[in-house]
Amino acid sequence: MKLSLIRTYSYYTFPNFHKPKTQSPSLCARLTRPVCSTSLKPKTPLFLRPPEYSATLSDLKRWQDWAKTLSSSIGSSFLDSDNGPDPSLLCRELNWLIEDSLEDHSVIPQLGIQDNSKNVRLKVDIAELYSLWKQRIEGRKPFQYIVGCEHWRDLVLSVEEGVFIPRPETELLVDLASDAVSNNEELRQGLWVDLGTGSGAIAIGIGRILGTRGRVIATDLNPLAASVAAFNVQRYSLQDVIEIRQGSWFEPLKDIEEKLSGVISNPPYIPSEDIPGLQAEVGRHEPRLALDGGFDGMDDLLYLSNCTALLLKPGGFFAFETNGEKQCKFLVDYLENDNAGSFCNMKIVSDFAGIPRFVTGFHQ
Ligand SMILES: C[S@@+](CC[C@H](N)C(=O)[O-])C[C@H]1O[C@@H](n2cnc3c(N)ncnc32)[C@H](O)[C@@H]1O
Repeated sequence: MKLSLIRTYSYYTFPNFHKPKTQSPSLCARLTRPVCSTSLKPKTPLFLRPPEYSATLSDLKRWQDWAKTLSSSIGSSFLDSDNGPDPSLLCRELNWLIEDSLEDHSVIPQLGIQDNSKNVRLKVDIAELYSLWKQRIEGRKPFQYIVGCEHWRDLVLSVEEGVFIPRPETELLVDLASDAVSNNEELRQGLWVDLGTGSGAIAIGIGRILGTRGRVIATDLNPLAASVAAFNVQRYSLQDVIEIRQGSWFEPLKDIEEKLSGVISNPPYIPSEDIPGLQAEVGRHEPRLALDGGFDGMDDLLYLSNCTALLLKPGGFFAFETNGEKQCKFLVDYLENDNAGSFCNMKIVSDFAGIPRFVTGFHQ
């Protein structure tokens, strides 16, 4: 596991702004912890797989040279067409793929030596490496789906096709929750929810900052996401703190009698009409359920705000991620007028790039 390597980068910048998507009854069934379904067993990320294969360093070098040539051949075409990756980023990804594939990283410098017949142990067959890199370049498959993980905060989270890849800007949601609990023991020991948890990133981040009695329930409508989130929760040994439930937004929380201390969500917020213009890695591969926020992107944000007004306890904290300034202002205006009297201390918080991104506040 390479905790030292920072690999995060944004695939997209969501452009600017429905009734929440109706769920099929079969997806409403609540799975209690641990979320497990044999047909939805998450894939093991490459770096966690056993080194079952071997190849000579020369074979690996031949693959690396081929992959570099393929990466260079795209020139600026991806960048020009949809702000996609350029050859230098692809070459960095290639190095990360080599690291994740090798059992012993100390042999990497020897890849420069010609005709090296030394055998190295690999976590993936060399023929599969050719196929994976073709999928990356020709299919524009996100790198995170190629290696099966994403580095996020100090975590390495399992992700796979069908599950949203957590983005760097979302890391701040955990810091906002951390600030809220820092001087408030009641919130720190309370019940928090992460709605639309995807890989479980936010839930795990928050689970680690809560006090000994704090708990997080994370929900997702997508059964594969729920299954991958449960895998990540178990990998970080947080099963006693975080529970994953499959279902729509607050629907799996009907049995919760206590009021919530914190509601956090990074819901789908891309306006439907902007989906076709997304970077190929996002639009072709990431689940539409995770992206599409309806006509103006606000459907889920408004729905979650209304429910939060009912379910958050007095003094409870909420934080929602949005598409940018327009959605932030719209949401604050909505909360001040349509939910008048429900919330106080509302703030718009910018992300690391200075883009107004989050709306936070407390229940009155
Ligand atoms: C933008 S992704 C965020 C995922 C994760 N929280 C993160 O930040 O990486 C939105 C998530 O909401 C989930 N989602 C969409 N509609 C939902 C619904 N009705 N109920 C629960 N989750 C939903 C999607 O499956 C997806 O995982």
